[in-house]
Amino acid sequence: MPLKTKSTGKLISFEGSEGSGKSTQIARLAEHCQKIGREVIATREPGGTEIGEQIRSIIVHNSKGDEMCPETELLLFTAARAQLVREVIVPALTRGAIVLSDRYLDSSTVYQGIARNLAPGPVNEINRFAVGNVMPDLTIVMDVPTEVSLQRIRQRASDLPDRMERQNITFYNKVREGYLLLAKEWPQRVVVIDGTQAPDAIDKKVWAEVQKRLG
Ligand code: TYD
Repeated sequence: MPLKTKSTGKLISFEGSEGSGKSTQIARLAEHCQKIGREVIATREPGGTEIGEQIRSIIVHNSKGDEMCPETELLLFTAARAQLVREVIVPALTRGAIVLSDRYLDSSTVYQGIARNLAPGPVNEINRFAVGNVMPDLTIVMDVPTEVSLQRIRQRASDLPDRMERQNITFYNKVREGYLLLAKEWPQRVVVIDGTQAPDAIDKKVWAEVQKRLG
């Protein structure tokens, strides 16, 4: 059933491969929004709710995770998303808050659909079922070459990279291409930003895009 939200609330999702700099920019954008007096809710996927965090640990840290089939992976990610939408996102949007989500439904389209080759029809249907009609007002794709993102992952990994981070370079190239394709398909909603620029330059561009949507 479609979910109802109030129009002053905004949902902004950040997408991109691991190490693309999403979290830095989410923190900066949160500050901008707070400075203009808006309530900000920052959340992440998978996770963001107690149920979602439990699902996250199954997907990301399960030691036998390598045996998980892509279909299961899709259903777990979307299950966590369904909970997040109803428990956190819709109530926040209804209060008029700005919700910043570190990943949202496009991650499933790209990682499970494109990179893991699941059929796009079912992926889209399951995704839509999970989110109701709660689509982002804006999606920022942080685009970095695969070599750069892999290098950043290696630098920040204090121990072994997690299950999702052990994929090979072909997988990450598909992820990157997948996001660029989505941006072509949804030019109004999805904005690609060059993630190799200095954080300040990225911050300015992100804020400019958000201000356009805030009116
Ligand atoms: P996380 O540690 O949050 O990585 P990041 O900081 O890059 O977001 O791990 C999330 C991993 O799950 C990441 O590899 C992307 C993947 N993922 C999917 O494959 N499908 C999805 O629907 C979502 C939300 C995440």
